[in-house]
Amino acid sequence: VLAEKGNYRHFMQKEIFEQPRAVSDTIKPYMNFETGKVVLPYATFLEEVFKDVSRIVFTACGTSYHAALVGKYMFESMLRIPCNVELASEFRYRDPILDGKTLVVGISQSGETADTKGAISLARDAGCPTCSIVNVVGSSLARMTDAVIYTHAGPEIGVASTKAFTAQLAALALMVLYASCVRNAGETDLHLRFKEDLLRMPGLMEEILGSHEILQDWAMDIHHALSALYLGRHVLFPIALEGALKLKEISYIHAEGYAAGEMKHGPIALVDENLPVVCLMQHGVIGEKIRSNLQEVEARGGRVFLVADELAAQEAGLESKLSYIFKVPICHDLLSPLLFVLPMQLLAYYVAVERGTDVDQPRNLAKSVTVE
Ligand code: G6P
Repeated sequence: VLAEKGNYRHFMQKEIFEQPRAVSDTIKPYMNFETGKVVLPYATFLEEVFKDVSRIVFTACGTSYHAALVGKYMFESMLRIPCNVELASEFRYRDPILDGKTLVVGISQSGETADTKGAISLARDAGCPTCSIVNVVGSSLARMTDAVIYTHAGPEIGVASTKAFTAQLAALALMVLYASCVRNAGETDLHLRFKEDLLRMPGLMEEILGSHEILQDWAMDIHHALSALYLGRHVLFPIALEGALKLKEISYIHAEGYAAGEMKHGPIALVDENLPVVCLMQHGVIGEKIRSNLQEVEARGGRVFLVADELAAQEAGLESKLSYIFKVPICHDLLSPLLFVLPMQLLAYYVAVERGTDVDQPRNLAKSVTVE
């Protein structure tokens, strides 16, 4: 087992650092670099479906559910196809409204999660076309759906999912590019920039991982906390949820992820000097709004840990004022989750190490939940 971890102390740590490779291995087989076009398997089926689909439902559990949430932002913004995101355990028991023009996409690392399988069976019975994004070849979910898009993250051993998540985001981005072509929406500057930036992801991720020591320092100041709040907006809202989930899973510190705009409707009551508040901030109009959250937290003596893209940090002139700031390179905003999630994973990892928990096999959790 030691050998498989190489120079790493934990599988999770190794898997975090493997992400540039996981993402690049997921992109490469689906990209024709000569034509610049995305080539997906099950082409006849997917072409047909994407031509006349009227809605997409993404369904998943845990971290894969957070990838699904990001998928909604990507598909709606790039393709104008209405999307719903459903927790598989809710979806399967609430008699959802489905029809043959609704594509149901199940997302799962293992392909064996009972609820996600249940959700896909329901969709099949309702006559929906189905597709899965799965990491394990030949898994149950892959065999149940009309089409499968495999992520190539490689085996994920750490119970808390990391590289499977970023590989899922890459697969969703590839689906967006593919569907754009099918629907003749693929040649705008926006799409070209999205594609170029997707190809740049592994390099940018590498850059971020190179600054991991900053998060190690943050962990020293967070590991005694009883609770933590994660705030994000727009496409970084799901990353706030994922950051909080990672911290809970492996460090056992209570954490909540919140849409930053909702802070004033509840979590602000919790803010005091003991509450670390991790804020995710992109540049532009949305970033501006996060800036006012920062001020509200600081005014109440709360400790802000800011993860911001380079422009957002500059715009806000924050570097001089804040003690904790981690900078992320600029990219297409819909792809920024692939970058912002890395400091979330590293922070949770270092906090857990500091607290001496069993990082790879946290108590009460299973790698895949195959029974209800
Ligand atoms: C478990 C794991 C999580 C994972 C979730 C969904 O709870 O501990 O890391 O995100 O199941 O698993 P799946 O294999 O369907 O992605």
